[in-house]
Amino acid sequence: MELPIFYDEAEEWKNALLLYDSALKEINTKIEIMNNEFKLTHQYNPIEHVVSRLKSPESIAKKIRHNKKELTVENIVKYVNDVAGVRIICSFTSDIYRIADLIAKQSDVKVLKVKDYITCPKENGYSSYHMIVSVPIYLSNNVIETKVEIQIRTIAMDFWASLEHKIYYKFEGNAPERIRKELRECSEIVSYLDHKMLSLNEEIKSFSHDREA
Ligand code: GTP
Ligand code: MG
Repeated sequence: MELPIFYDEAEEWKNALLLYDSALKEINTKIEIMNNEFKLTHQYNPIEHVVSRLKSPESIAKKIRHNKKELTVENIVKYVNDVAGVRIICSFTSDIYRIADLIAKQSDVKVLKVKDYITCPKENGYSSYHMIVSVPIYLSNNVIETKVEIQIRTIAMDFWASLEHKIYYKFEGNAPERIRKELRECSEIVSYLDHKMLSLNEEIKSFSHDREA
């Protein structure tokens, strides 16, 4: 992956990419270990699936332009928090907070920023839990704290976000009011569904405990 920037910065960019790629690996391993431990102790899998990506050079350049900054590696590292991004999809809302806590508790992880769009959904209905964290990357001569954006959401929230994303691009951010209204309604249905599924799951859990007793 090459960024269309000046040649004298190409080396610097390759180094930065190595860090972001390593940070994704670190976070992915942490998530996998967490999930395996959970399966072992609670006999259930809180994570449905995980996707990670490095932001495309075009999107990075667009964001830097949007922030009215000069396109330099230094500015990317400083201002673009989501060059490395991980999305964790869970079954239940309660899993989201459990996973976020477990990540935050790890001693080498620093939580730089949290946005809880579940407690406080966005105006358009978007709901998800966001964390910007940093993890130390050990190179031969030094240790570099590297940022990763982690988004944690339920399957239903992810379903909504994918469609909203598609609509946003289709209308270049100017979707007709009727469509925006329907999306907001869908987000309420998503929230209702997540609540229902969670309480149903809690009920099933207590039911099996009763039977075992
Ligand atoms: P950017 O949106 O990345 O410029 O940063 P920000 O500071 O606004 O961060 P925020 O935590 O609000 O959003 C980070 C990411 O969450 C975005 O890049 C998207 O991937 C996702 N996201 C935020 N808002 C929405 C939304 O309204 N719809 C969808 N589909 N995704 C969103
Ligand atoms: Mg982003």
